[in-house]
Amino acid sequence: MANRVRKAVLPVAGLGTRLLPATKSIPKEMITVVDRPLIQYAVDEAREAGIEELIFVTGRGKSALVDYFDHAYELEATLKAKGKSLDVLAPSNVTFGEVVTVRQQQPLGLGHAVWCARHIVGDEPFAVLLPDELMFGTPNCLAQMMRAYDRVGGNIVAALEVPASETHKYGVIDPGPSDGRLTQIRGMVEKPAAGTAPSNLMLPGRYILQPEVMRQLDAQETGAGGEIQLTDAMARLIGTQPFHAFLFDGARYDCGSAEGFVIANIAMAMEREDVGPAVREFIARL
Ligand code: G1P
Repeated sequence: MANRVRKAVLPVAGLGTRLLPATKSIPKEMITVVDRPLIQYAVDEAREAGIEELIFVTGRGKSALVDYFDHAYELEATLKAKGKSLDVLAPSNVTFGEVVTVRQQQPLGLGHAVWCARHIVGDEPFAVLLPDELMFGTPNCLAQMMRAYDRVGGNIVAALEVPASETHKYGVIDPGPSDGRLTQIRGMVEKPAAGTAPSNLMLPGRYILQPEVMRQLDAQETGAGGEIQLTDAMARLIGTQPFHAFLFDGARYDCGSAEGFVIANIAMAMEREDVGPAVREFIARL
């Protein structure tokens, strides 16, 4: 029986330069998809998958994210006084100690961001969710991965097919034998040069990892783009621990760019029971 995954690391220190000017004064994770900030989707996904402790790796200018998951006394008092329901705030309320933050003082890469959480993660398996990647499915992506983890343990990363022309933008796996949605991983490479990717299965930012990956990150070795890459640290564990890719059954919206945000808004709005009908009607008219 694999050790239970209770903690999730959410790297949220990025500057969001692809979303300027919006991100000049608000974190990209606070930009909305329909009526809730992007971070809410990742937090909902983690909680639904059974995560009990959310570790935000933040940076300068990201305080709005932490405030969002706090009580807003004036707002609550005003809503109450007006006889309005507080239910709308429920998803943003957390229990005492459920959110922990640590700062990444320098943008040294995703691997470095995850490593900044090493003392909080301690010696247990943990999940990583990249909030820019909005994953939509039932059950959600991490929940699907948790089910697989209960069967095989070790390390599991989500994987999705992309056209070969896009593999240079992502971490890409070298797949081995498959069993249903699980594929053994033989290797992985971060941002392979065009034409050199071992497959067209990219890493969309959902991981279940064993704490040993932190020991790999201790080395602080740099890789693609001169950054400390999580993909490189994971690659070094292959062969020493079980390592699988999980082919996610659902949709992925890349909210790292303006185009991705607009697409996510349209898609997620169309799914919603409340705003969906009006949005669908408008789009059909367009
Ligand atoms: C990061 C990871 C990469 C992954 C991608 C998903 O890259 O390093 O392996 O495929 O997120 O969005 P970044 O987008 O930070 O360059």
